[in-house]
Amino acid sequence: MKVERKCKIVSKDWLNRDAVYMVLEVGDMVRTSWKGPGQFVHVKCGDSLLLRRPISVCSCMEEEPEDTLAIVFEVRGEGTQWLANRPAGHSVDVMGLLGNGFTMKPEGRYLLVGGGIGVPPMLGCAQYTAGKSTAIVGFRSKEKAILLDRLEKECAKVLTATDDGSLGCHGFVDALVRQELSEDKNYDAVLACGPKPMLRNVAKVAQEFGVPCQVSMEERMGCGVGACLVCACDMKDGSRKHVCKDGPVFDSKEVDWDA
Ligand SMILES: Cc1cc2nc3c(=O)[nH]c(=O)nc-3n(C[C@H](O)[C@H](O)[C@H](O)COP(=O)(O)OP(=O)(O)OC[C@H]3O[C@@H](n4cnc5c(N)ncnc54)[C@H](O)[C@@H]3O)c2cc1C
Ligand code: FES
Repeated sequence: MKVERKCKIVSKDWLNRDAVYMVLEVGDMVRTSWKGPGQFVHVKCGDSLLLRRPISVCSCMEEEPEDTLAIVFEVRGEGTQWLANRPAGHSVDVMGLLGNGFTMKPEGRYLLVGGGIGVPPMLGCAQYTAGKSTAIVGFRSKEKAILLDRLEKECAKVLTATDDGSLGCHGFVDALVRQELSEDKNYDAVLACGPKPMLRNVAKVAQEFGVPCQVSMEERMGCGVGACLVCACDMKDGSRKHVCKDGPVFDSKEVDWDA
């Protein structure tokens, strides 16, 4: 069940120059609409901005009397800048929890792959599997790295790559996915969130090794609930699906990567 409400900002912390970790008090939103890690909230960013901005749930807790959830976002434009400027104690208008998250079991063991601002929902997946999963995360540079200490606590292993080699392996995450799967194919699935070229490459490697792969797609959004078609994503069978309603998570074999 989708809920829309004013949510108090419990805390706001900068993780680096551009990324904010924000905890929100969301009433009974988690209790009534949580389906699994990988869902998102649609946040109204400013009075003059007509559209909301989709942000993945990083982690969430059912707490009495108010549920809380954490989001992590990077300042990209007017909307995210507005949100980053809100101080703790202020309220924001939040719609959620929206979309379908990753299909996963708490007892499962997953290879979690995140690129840049696609890393936050991977922390929720790691927490859900309580230390059994492995995370492979990539950033443009060391200065852009986020949530590494928290992932270390929640995962069996964390591997890092940076485009410029300033932290971890020099290169892209798909090379680390290949390395990990060639040493250990005993994962229930690869779960990935990040830019589309990264998702395409990770999906290809997972397929080569015969490991199921789910990807969280990022498209620009309007309504966030399946009513406007702004977020259409082309599927291999010729159909078009709504990232907001049918996704954002899809089986990687369903997606038309050449569209
Ligand atoms: C399901 C979903 C989950 C997301 N989760 C997160 C998250 O956890 N953290 C986070 O920082 N961001 C996330 N995003 C992206 C975030 O929604 C955009 O960065 C945000 O909408 C930008 O708004 P703005 O007003 O600041 O920038 P705008 O001025 O609207 O745009 C600034 C730049 O960002 C690009 N952009 C805007 N929206 C998107 C989008 N949806 N996908 C790709 N590029 C976009 C624009 O083309 C432009 O270049 C998510 C997007 C989706 C669809
Ligand atoms: S954002 Fe409107 S249909 Fe998906």
